[in-house]
Amino acid sequence: MKRKLRILVLMHESLVPPDDLSGYSDQEINEWKTEYDVMAFLENAGHEVRALGLYDNLADLRHAIRDWRPDIAFNLLQEFQGIITYDQHIVAYLELMRQPYTGCNPRGMMISRDKVLSKQVLSYHRIPTPSFALFRRGRRFKPSARLTYPLFVKSATEDASLGIAQASIVEDEVRLRERVEFIHDHTRTDALVEEFIAGRELYVGICGNQRLTTLPVWEMSFGSLGETAAIATRKVKWDLGYQQKHGIRTGPARGLGPAAEQAIIRLSKRAYRALYMSGYARMDFRMRPDGGVYLLEANCNPNLSYGEDFAESAAHGGHAYEKLLHRIIRLGLDYEAEWRTFEA
Ligand SMILES: Nc1ncnc2c1ncn2[C@@H]1O[C@H](COP(=O)(O)OP(=O)(O)O)[C@@H](O)[C@H]1O
Ligand SMILES: [Mg+2]
Repeated sequence: MKRKLRILVLMHESLVPPDDLSGYSDQEINEWKTEYDVMAFLENAGHEVRALGLYDNLADLRHAIRDWRPDIAFNLLQEFQGIITYDQHIVAYLELMRQPYTGCNPRGMMISRDKVLSKQVLSYHRIPTPSFALFRRGRRFKPSARLTYPLFVKSATEDASLGIAQASIVEDEVRLRERVEFIHDHTRTDALVEEFIAGRELYVGICGNQRLTTLPVWEMSFGSLGETAAIATRKVKWDLGYQQKHGIRTGPARGLGPAAEQAIIRLSKRAYRALYMSGYARMDFRMRPDGGVYLLEANCNPNLSYGEDFAESAAHGGHAYEKLLHRIIRLGLDYEAEWRTFEA
């Protein structure tokens, strides 16, 4: 990108990174590494970059936009007021302010963040996703006769594997009820129960608004955790020590074969469009040993840390980090928000 831009980076107020990394442990750095990496690389690329830490103060955002007039808001928010589904309203607010931003539009965020609504839309489009039942919080437990054990119990709206552990896989009704109650109590959200898909765990990154490009198919390998425990629990995703101990890592998916790879890429693009996504996203899949592929969820605005899955798969596909960030900014600048239609 040749032009120098004024970039307002939106982030949670507790994640505003320090100027340099010295004196922090890896686990500490991990907390705000995305924010640090994005800021550092964009500054390095010659842009004027400002961090805006937000918790619940919309006035701060309004003032920053009015006073500083950023070319683009780089959206790294994952929540607002501590509520993870509220960041979509901030993006809606950016649209009302006619402020270009990076990442997904509010409609795509609203649909993709709601796993049940997503699955309803996906099944209309015949995009395979595990069969499911919803267990609402505060309702009487009524087991579903339609689903075949083993089942998998998770939150209908939380992400980052909150509430996901080995005990999420349940073999009978007693365990199912226990785990549904656990999700209700611990995450205070509805519980989504799906048929458990044993097999490989695959991720596909996508960038684009109209024309979509996919990043190479990525796979999580579970190392010494072995086949039975091969799910991305909270610990598997976030605990560096645990990852090292068990040799858990992610990298290019091997040996899929061109037909399976093409099928997964096509599914990713169809799902992205079906869910009205824009900017960039990561699709989470499971693949059965017989080759059957199921979409678990579509993640809008996935983690952009340098060295993490999304950036690594982009680099593998020929988009080094700075180029990736510029591509995301370009997509944000080009996004045809509705207000543009009415521009003079
Ligand atoms: N139906 C399922 N079958 C097998 N594994 C699942 C299923 N649903 C979720 N998982 C496992 O749990 C992880 C997190 O689930 P996911 O739906 O992606 O939620 P999150 O938003 O927390 O990432 C997945 O990456 C996968 O390993
Ligand atoms: Mg996921």
